[in-house]
Amino acid sequence: MFLTLFRKVLGPNQAHVSKSVFGKAMAKIAHLPSLPDTSTRAMALANDPGATLADFSNLIKRDGAIATATLKLANSPMYRVGKPVEELHQAVLRLGLRTCSDLVASIGMRGLFRNAKRETVERCELLWRHSFFTASLATQINVALKLGFCGEEFTAGLLHDLGRFMIALVVPTGADAGDPLDFNEDEQRMAQEEQVLGTNHCALGFRYCQLNSLPPSVALCNLMHHEPGEAVKQGREGYQLVSLIAAADHIANYVHRTHRIKDYDATLNEGLALLACGDRVRWDKLINDMPQLAKAALRTTREVLKTGAI
Ligand SMILES: [Fe+2]
Ligand SMILES: [Fe+2]
Repeated sequence: MFLTLFRKVLGPNQAHVSKSVFGKAMAKIAHLPSLPDTSTRAMALANDPGATLADFSNLIKRDGAIATATLKLANSPMYRVGKPVEELHQAVLRLGLRTCSDLVASIGMRGLFRNAKRETVERCELLWRHSFFTASLATQINVALKLGFCGEEFTAGLLHDLGRFMIALVVPTGADAGDPLDFNEDEQRMAQEEQVLGTNHCALGFRYCQLNSLPPSVALCNLMHHEPGEAVKQGREGYQLVSLIAAADHIANYVHRTHRIKDYDATLNEGLALLACGDRVRWDKLINDMPQLAKAALRTTREVLKTGAI
């Protein structure tokens, strides 16, 4: 059925040709640049209970771009309290370990596509905004439901669609055929990717995470963010984080598509239902709070982008 659909979209022969071309291109993933060492080390530090702010300052002071961005964010209207800070350590103190780690991960992620061709950069910028908004939403839902994540939800949200970046980078001329960027990440779209690319962005993202030794929780969210029920069924370690990212991603996609949160049908959100665990009171509160949570996440995304730190 899907092959028929794609032949309609691509023409009778193009689906076959594209699949072969794209299949070869997938091998290029192993040669893509990895996230900078500073980014992966910052993520590890943020997850290390023994890490201190001084450890973090020492790590990032060696990277001029990250150090500058940290100072910029600390002095932005979002975080500025009183006098501007001029020392990196003060900036780290002001932002906190988790925000610094998020900042470093975000900068690292942008670095993946900064030097690509213009069309690819534009595509990745759009995906990056989706990723940042998903991460901010995950943080909002985490707080609202008291899930107890301490920032790993932001990192996982930010990196959940790495496979879509991979598609943009390894098959820049035809990425649109597999992923038209209309923010419909439903079953049909996954089938479209599989037909056109011979794989899907979840599997690609997972592979990239493994190749680059990214945290297992990030890898699992890449692999299963479109099937959180399966993660629960398999009893995967980290399934709750997968449900959270799936929930945030579903809402983010709706907002990207419609530019509103009004009329959002939360009953279609599998991740959200898994997080509510059948608790009616919890569910009703979540649905009631959803417009505020989405607006707060959108505000954060816009404000951080406005600082120019990332
Ligand atoms: Fe996705
Ligand atoms: Fe997504």
